[in-house]
Amino acid sequence: MRKYIVAGNWKMNTTVPEGVALAKEVAQKAHSLPANVELIVAPPFTHLACVADALKGSAVALSAQNCADHEKGAYTGEVSVKMLTSVGCQYTILGHSERRQYYGETDEKLVEKTRLALEAGLKVILCVGENLDEREAGKHFEVVTAQTKAVLYNFTAEDLMHVVIAYEPVWAIGTGKTATAAQAEEIHACIRTVVAEKFGKEVADDMTILYGGSCKPSNAKELFAEPDIDGGLIGGAALKADDFIAIATSF
Ligand code: PGA
Repeated sequence: MRKYIVAGNWKMNTTVPEGVALAKEVAQKAHSLPANVELIVAPPFTHLACVADALKGSAVALSAQNCADHEKGAYTGEVSVKMLTSVGCQYTILGHSERRQYYGETDEKLVEKTRLALEAGLKVILCVGENLDEREAGKHFEVVTAQTKAVLYNFTAEDLMHVVIAYEPVWAIGTGKTATAAQAEEIHACIRTVVAEKFGKEVADDMTILYGGSCKPSNAKELFAEPDIDGGLIGGAALKADDFIAIATSF
């Protein structure tokens, strides 16, 4: 069964007290949501333990924004998958374009991180998406197909039950320029085909594929109405509980 998900990527925003207050407000307002929509918040590492506490008793799931590509040891500044599960994370985002662009996140590293996350029992929200030059050169299908294959094709159909894909065109992130519902849908359908080619139609049909990039209450309905768009990975609009909840009620 395909799951509908709205996940909030807080990025490097909020202090711990601000994050706890936001999480509490989201948890409180999430009670009115239909049971088939899963809400996830992804605060910074420093917030995770406190936010986990704030979410107790609610159905809101907790995600990290990244994890280390090693299990443990002498990797100063890194955070391991076991540290994440130990504070109550159920998910981690991996391969966000900001990490690919600013921190040299490669597909090889993402394979390793995904492997470690799945072994630790974390679910993965894997981000893919083309940049503006690639879109303008007409290479968006090619880029997204390559990014999807480079990671997913190293795993099994069983593993994929714990992986969510987020299609985030880089030119739409934080820019206010949303992909049109038709532009997003054709890429989502392409990702589903890429999954089906290796793992079969059933696995592809069950996969949750999120859209991310300036998704907000005013455009979520149109995006989520597409057959292959199963929710959103929300940046800016996830920092306001009311906007985040409004997006989650847009199915
Ligand atoms: P945005 O970010 O909603 O602020 O565009 C989305 C994301 O990067 O996940």
